[in-house]
Amino acid sequence: MFIFRKIDLVFHSSVMANSCRKLVFNIYIGFYCSAVIMPQKGICSQFTSSPIDEFNKDPEAFPVATNGEIFPWHELRLPTVVIPLHYDLLIHPNLTSLDFVASEKIEVLVRDDTQFIVLHSKDLEIINASLQSEEDVRYRKPGERLTVLSYPAHQQIALLVPEKLRADLRYSVAIDFQAKLADGFEGFYKSTYRTLGGETRTIAVTDFEPTEARMAFPCFDEPLFKANFSIKIRRESRHIALSNMPKVKTIELEGGLLEDHFETTVKMSTYLVAYIVCDFTSVSGTTSSGVKVSIYASPDKWSQTHYALEASLKLLDFYENYFDIHYPLPKLDLIAIPDFASGAMENWGLITYRETSLLFDPKTSSTSDKLWVTKVIAHELAHQWFGNLVTMEWWNDIWLNEGFATYMELISLNITYPELQFDENFSNTCFEVIKRDSLNSSHPISNQAKTPTQIQEMFDAVSYNKGACILNMLKDFLSEETFRKGIIHYLKKFSYRNAKNDDLWHSLSNNCLESDSTSSGFCYSDSKKTSNTLAFLRENVELKEMMATWTLQKGIPLVVVKREGRSLRLEQERFLSGVSKEDPEWGTLQERYLWHIPVTYSTSSSNEIHRHILKLKTDTLDLSEKTNWVKFNVDSNGYYIVHYEGQGWDELITLLNQNHTLLRPKDRIGLIHDAFQLVSAGRLTLDKALDLTRYLQHETSIPALLKGLEYLELFYRMVERRNISDVTENLKHYLLQYFKPVIDTQSWVDEGSVWDRMLRSTVLKLACYLNHAPCIQKATELFSQWMESSGKLNIPTDVLKIVYSVGAQTTSGWNYLLEQYELSLSGAEKNKILYALSTSRQQEKLMKLIELGMEGKVIKTQDLAALLFAIARNPKGQQLAWNFVKENWTHLLKKFELGSFPMRTIVSGTTSHFSSKDELREVKLFFEYLKAQGSHLDIFQTILEAISKNIKWLEKNLPTLRKWLLISI
Ligand code: BES
Ligand code: ZN
Repeated sequence: MFIFRKIDLVFHSSVMANSCRKLVFNIYIGFYCSAVIMPQKGICSQFTSSPIDEFNKDPEAFPVATNGEIFPWHELRLPTVVIPLHYDLLIHPNLTSLDFVASEKIEVLVRDDTQFIVLHSKDLEIINASLQSEEDVRYRKPGERLTVLSYPAHQQIALLVPEKLRADLRYSVAIDFQAKLADGFEGFYKSTYRTLGGETRTIAVTDFEPTEARMAFPCFDEPLFKANFSIKIRRESRHIALSNMPKVKTIELEGGLLEDHFETTVKMSTYLVAYIVCDFTSVSGTTSSGVKVSIYASPDKWSQTHYALEASLKLLDFYENYFDIHYPLPKLDLIAIPDFASGAMENWGLITYRETSLLFDPKTSSTSDKLWVTKVIAHELAHQWFGNLVTMEWWNDIWLNEGFATYMELISLNITYPELQFDENFSNTCFEVIKRDSLNSSHPISNQAKTPTQIQEMFDAVSYNKGACILNMLKDFLSEETFRKGIIHYLKKFSYRNAKNDDLWHSLSNNCLESDSTSSGFCYSDSKKTSNTLAFLRENVELKEMMATWTLQKGIPLVVVKREGRSLRLEQERFLSGVSKEDPEWGTLQERYLWHIPVTYSTSSSNEIHRHILKLKTDTLDLSEKTNWVKFNVDSNGYYIVHYEGQGWDELITLLNQNHTLLRPKDRIGLIHDAFQLVSAGRLTLDKALDLTRYLQHETSIPALLKGLEYLELFYRMVERRNISDVTENLKHYLLQYFKPVIDTQSWVDEGSVWDRMLRSTVLKLACYLNHAPCIQKATELFSQWMESSGKLNIPTDVLKIVYSVGAQTTSGWNYLLEQYELSLSGAEKNKILYALSTSRQQEKLMKLIELGMEGKVIKTQDLAALLFAIARNPKGQQLAWNFVKENWTHLLKKFELGSFPMRTIVSGTTSHFSSKDELREVKLFFEYLKAQGSHLDIFQTILEAISKNIKWLEKNLPTLRKWLLISI
């Protein structure tokens, strides 16, 4: 079933700096792009010339500006004739009248003679624009006023110059502008919070990625146009101002206003610019290399900032070491914003977070909350290199940012926080995207994206998760050390510049340090250390060609293994869940798909990991010895699914039952995953996959046990939603009986390892959901005690959500929880309460929650998507949530951008679990209606496919499930 990645986020619940270093960068930057000095090399050569004279040839082909004149540019991408070098920004937000006035000076370089300058601007009122040549600046000659044309459909303005601008010269463009602080979550927007004393306060904050810097100041808002930024902010004395760089000085203006001047930034893309005016307080520390790290939050939440400080200091130290590149700024601020659309944003030097992604409250934050906070910090810090220092050329390759940041979470957390055992969770990152990537409507990792909506849609599981998974597969193939050298090479080579896929593959295949002798592009010194076969394989692989099969082609391969005596026959095909080989469309869907798959396998006869590259459709391998079983995809490091023909699955099931520890835990998790995937593709019968889970009674690895349980719970929820009562009852019975030993041994105390604690949360949540009497009794008892203590009693954090959910089933409990929701200062607690409230079986209560979410006071708009998702998961709320979305689409569109995370969560969260033909028809009709209205999203197709897949699954497997349960209970 398709579940959008974002959900994780919301309910996860969820000294002196080294200024010399930074100065060096700034000096270089001033000169970088003089076309005269470096006409062909460096950043300038990354721009291709554009047909600027087209306008003169055919003015008819051009759009009309708002004033009726012809707008001189018709493309969504900006011309590359004029490029920005430096921005001087002065911003004055007024937190009482909720607007801002601002002015900017952009120093630009003209690469070809031109009569106009086109830049981005959205919802800004341009008051005045003027232009000075370098000479004008030198002699302080006032600027010449420019005509400004506006073409809102492309979010562009054109500045018409009276006299042609000349190639290779620099000019300074000055613009005065103003706007209201935005109401949503993009651009320069307002956010509010309530103090302990009940006062509501306002702050102003930016969020620009991908295309919203243009809402805050007119700019060349594309990642390739890197420039330096000198920012000044005016504020009242009760506030502070923060930006990417440290403050150099504060000037007092007439009337008591203060003006903060920030140091000039390094060269960077517009989407990374940030500034905030607020009254927050902070805690600070310094890394071993002298970077000052501070965590900011609203004053009453100060006590929740300490974990984030510890984690970010540790992780920043780690990354500087791992990449062998200093973090180039003197400071790094991490700030918890009360209204935030996504989880976090990596603005250089000033990372913004949703409160639940940064703050940790020991009293109410659970283990999974801690994992989430640590993960998000690790992710955004990794972006300071992957994304900020080296940026993708265009949004089609956003995976170079997001895939890498997601991959680096794994690498950094394994080393800095081994106790979090994050590694065990990584396969889930891949499993999550496989759901999507095995539908025909998936897309390649590198995908065309033109409009802002299409660009936003690129921030999806394919870019994040699949990106990270294929990097992990490549690391496993090349060895961690070779891979690391390659990415260091890439980061160093493209620092302060932009890169594309091929640049990465090139750096990874030519990554030798000068001291290493090379052979076929790989470091000889590395290959020597590893097995001969591996060295041979690596040297004979054309990396670019291999990786193209993973990034330019959508989908995931299925490797079919058949043992024939001493040899293994391998065959690859495209894996499609919901389509079986007998279906008429199967053949067409397979055409032209081929991957270069670095397969690994282990056998019963030795501990060795065998490797091979499967480049062809079929291949044969020789087994040197006779073996009882073969297991492919060692440690689930590869991005492929494996099917064993003949006796393969039976041999493995026998092995699991006899001694499951002969396989590694991640191999066991992989087998459970693949088996159930193969059921959806009609390659394995459901009873075979269910039989495989029988060994789970003896499973010693908690992640493996949880994986098996996850599928059983998924089936339970599916039949429960559809009111298939006999199967629901029997499955409930089976789960409670079969997992009784695990359920009964759980304590209601925060104790044990991370995985012990995760197991406790999951198992007790399921037990209480299934109405298991001892569970309900214990939770009710704790809930009453909590109510009696007026919310002061500390309930163990890992069972907090369960206790609240049980408590929410009575009217008095529900009402009390809602009161506490309003009062709580912990985002972690609020999320748990909101989830609990959404599990009520009374529809009028669920409706009340939706109303509160739409109003945006008690329940903030930022939490609406998660709320609708949660209500849609509740069998009593699914129809309600879906009807609400249909009837209030235009209202929702006023709150969130069409392609944004929250909007996609709302659409898929309220539909993709459907599993009947009637529901499919309804959803289809609604999407068609939206399309006709001009609201189209690519995920519509994915959702329809997911629903069709659910329908087929039930048709095919319900009888089997029913039968299997009858013989199992
Ligand atoms: N760069 C993104 C933020 C973003 C998301 C910008 C979507 C534009 C559109 C940031 O680095 C990010 O990936 N945030 C994640 C958290 C992460 C730990 C997965 C998020 O917001 O979910
Ligand atoms: Zn990211």
